[in-house]
Amino acid sequence: MRKSLKLVAAAAGLMAFSATASAFSTGPCKACHALDHDVVGPAWDRVAKAYGSEEALAKVFKSGFKVEDRKIASSEPKFKAQASTMTGMYNNYIKGHEDDAAKALFAAVKSGKM
Ligand code: HEC
Repeated sequence: MRKSLKLVAAAAGLMAFSATASAFSTGPCKACHALDHDVVGPAWDRVAKAYGSEEALAKVFKSGFKVEDRKIASSEPKFKAQASTMTGMYNNYIKGHEDDAAKALFAAVKSGKM
């Protein structure tokens, strides 16, 4: 009895943890992106301009974020050469949160805060 209670408590704790972990945050993006200048990755105001709308960006995220569909990487060799870095970030943070990620990027550019 005591053992199963502990298990239930542990499972509830895990569920609470994964619920928090699954919310999209731009926190990790800041390591490589800024709003108005290129860092490791392109400035997000340029990204927003290149895609035009969060729907268009979400669509590219949802179709697997293929390098040839990426507006910046497909037109700028310097960034194309680093596409695999961004693919890793996509797999870790964006996959499963495509709409939220696109919304967060456009909201950040609009508000001036990441
Ligand atoms: C380790 C560095 C790094 C991190 C962290 C990172 N990015 Fe990137 N990002 C890049 C690089 C390099 C590029 C350029 C290559 C490319 O566009 O594929 C890029 C490009 C992009 C593009 C433009 C894609 C295109 O070519 O049109 C978007 C959108 C983007 N990142 C969103 C994000 C979001 C959202 C996060 C946070 C979840 C994030 N990035 C985190 C390095 C990073």
